[in-house]
Amino acid sequence: MPGHLESIRVCAPAKVNLALGVGGVRPDGYHELVTIFQAVSLFDTVTVSANKPGVGITVSVQGRDAKHVPTDKRNLAWQAAELVAAEAEISADVHIAIHKEIPVAGGMAGGSADAAGTLVACEQLWRANLSKEHLNDLAARLGSDVAFALHGGTAVGTGRGERITPAMARGNYQWVFALADRGLSTPKVYAECDRLRLGRRHSEPMVPADLMEALLTGDAVKLGRALHNDLQAAAVSLRPELDLVLDLGRDLALGAIVSGSGPTVAFLVADEETALDLTVSLAASGFTKDAVRAHGPVPGVRMLDAAAAP
Ligand code: C5P
Repeated sequence: MPGHLESIRVCAPAKVNLALGVGGVRPDGYHELVTIFQAVSLFDTVTVSANKPGVGITVSVQGRDAKHVPTDKRNLAWQAAELVAAEAEISADVHIAIHKEIPVAGGMAGGSADAAGTLVACEQLWRANLSKEHLNDLAARLGSDVAFALHGGTAVGTGRGERITPAMARGNYQWVFALADRGLSTPKVYAECDRLRLGRRHSEPMVPADLMEALLTGDAVKLGRALHNDLQAAAVSLRPELDLVLDLGRDLALGAIVSGSGPTVAFLVADEETALDLTVSLAASGFTKDAVRAHGPVPGVRMLDAAAAP
């Protein structure tokens, strides 16, 4: 059909949790969260293109850690395409090509970024006419971090993380991420957090006033001091060497934190020069697989290009 779209390419950002407060376990097994997300400039690219009718969904993955990403129904991007097709009441005949820059199972919501990108790209490819609210709703059904990947910027996440409110934030922050050679399973990290807390009282998570104040004034030094992650002890308990990695940034960074459920370690630094110095010293340490620089906040899923049929 001339004029119809053949392919759409979008990019979707990674996230770091500036603060992650974990509350009690809910009846559905999820933990109540209060988190402050920031989207950072590590991007996966998702290209969706029409498959021949009847072929169904196919997925291919290239780039960082590609061999660890499933290309079947377990892939959240596959599930995202299925959801959009069901809402649009059409048959899901689409190829999803993912190019990964975001580490896999690294605590930076790479799978969620791919799902958010696929939601937007399929919605466009199939001209499904879904509202922003409708897409947000589908995102929340797919996973706790998918709604934020759509949204981007800096935002407060509540509920299981899927309820997003934009945060008043100023400034542009420089990050260095120390990547591990093996991922950590998010459910296992939450389970370890529960185990470590057994028999102890823990306070209900709240929006951290000092961190919000730092964001409001764009004060990187104050932000560095306010970084906090309730999952950090659990991630370190499962992967003790993370303590060594956190230590490597003590002198150079304004703050160091395990990103989400880990094992990526995020360092907030004052400027690009320090970012470079830290990247070099992390690489030389032998404790990390790779060290990458990024800045935040960046927008959520963005359309890069579209190709129409001749
Ligand atoms: O929602 P998502 O699929 O990203 O969550 C992955 C896993 O992380 C869940 O199955 C659950 O074990 C854990 N989780 C949780 N509480 C949250 C978010 C995630 O326990 N708020």
